[in-house]
Amino acid sequence: MTGTVFQATQDFALTMDARDPLANYRQHFWFPKTVNGDDCIYLCGHSLGLQPKTASKFVEQELDDWARLGVEGHFHARSPWVPYHRLLTEQTAALVGAKPQEVVVMNSLTVNLHLMMVSFYRPTAPRHKILVERGAFPSDQYAIKSQIKFHGFDPASSLLELAPRPGEDFLRDEDVESLIDRKGDSIALILLGGVNYATGQVFDMPAITKAGHATGCAVGFDLAHAVGNIPLRLHDWGPDFAVWCSYKYLNGGPGCVGGCFVHDRHAHALELPKFAGWWGHDEKTRFVMGPDFQPMAGAEGWQLSNPPILALAPLRASMEIFQAAGIENLRAKSVLLTGYLEFLLEQHNATKFCAVTPREAERRGAQISIRIPRGGRAICEQLATQGVIGDWREPDTFRVAPVPLYNSYQDVYEFVQRFLAALA
Ligand SMILES: Cc1ncc(COP(=O)(O)O)c(C=O)c1O
Repeated sequence: MTGTVFQATQDFALTMDARDPLANYRQHFWFPKTVNGDDCIYLCGHSLGLQPKTASKFVEQELDDWARLGVEGHFHARSPWVPYHRLLTEQTAALVGAKPQEVVVMNSLTVNLHLMMVSFYRPTAPRHKILVERGAFPSDQYAIKSQIKFHGFDPASSLLELAPRPGEDFLRDEDVESLIDRKGDSIALILLGGVNYATGQVFDMPAITKAGHATGCAVGFDLAHAVGNIPLRLHDWGPDFAVWCSYKYLNGGPGCVGGCFVHDRHAHALELPKFAGWWGHDEKTRFVMGPDFQPMAGAEGWQLSNPPILALAPLRASMEIFQAAGIENLRAKSVLLTGYLEFLLEQHNATKFCAVTPREAERRGAQISIRIPRGGRAICEQLATQGVIGDWREPDTFRVAPVPLYNSYQDVYEFVQRFLAALA
């Protein structure tokens, strides 16, 4: 539907839904209900994705096998637990544009960030800085500062923050690259979000990786807001690592197991420092129970513990749906859906709010961040009582994400009507 000319009418939204080749996927998810029993207008997949209806089937199978088999389930469950995490490897690799050996589903995001920094943040006196975007997600900031201190450096001098130009809301790609060119010699690690959590800005990951490597920096991305949202080609882009969580666009459920990418070039890098655990040990001798760690090749070598099967199970449901829908198809719808949201908001001479998400489709994902300088939190809370769900980020931002897997044009249309009524 390239060249679609949007119209600010409900008929238009309904027509778009009727023509949407992905519209049926909505039926695959449970929607929270309003007090009247209607589906909520749920635009919060950037925070917690909805539950696939098939999730319970996957969880129940494991509960059932555990009840029937006890410890034998490790090898004799219908999906044996020892290699269970591998059931997600092919689909995950396809989704992030990686080779299967480059990805592993394990731990949660901040844990994986630390594990990756242990290996890829190796500061020296002349090169000790970590480059981050200003206002990165707090957990990233805490993790990064604690790693800097752990190595005996001071965040005041080792943290290099990228900020938009005065009066601007987003980083300019050219500013990111020119800073890397100028200061690269002192930077040990570039660690940016693939999609900024507050503004929804997509970073130019291939260009940042290229610029970083050209000046000798390690490069990693936090893809919490990118995975399942925009197409990724991690192997070709070439960062050293990436990490993500699976509870947002991937619909794996609250606190679901996250994911990790380590580029193939490090698959056999035995010299890299690494925190070790038995699940990263060579699986052929893991149960010999020897004292010396021999890591598996590839991303699996960074595993620590045997994985939580009950937390992985719902992710299988969602990844099956992703595979069927196709990330490129989802992205095509996402561009239209977010474009429609922006279009509808722009119809109103807004003095009380403004969008702080890039306008160009290629520079944003499925998100519009609406800055409301006064009274925004109360508006967000009022909408929530009506079953209109986005989320509030201090100090002034209402984030809403029309997710192409389960949101409709009608959701977007209805959201804007309710939002404007609440503002009034
Ligand atoms: C960008 C970003 N980084 C890190 C985190 C922290 O994730 P976790 O609690 O899974 O470690 C989040 C959580 O929402 C996030 O959005």
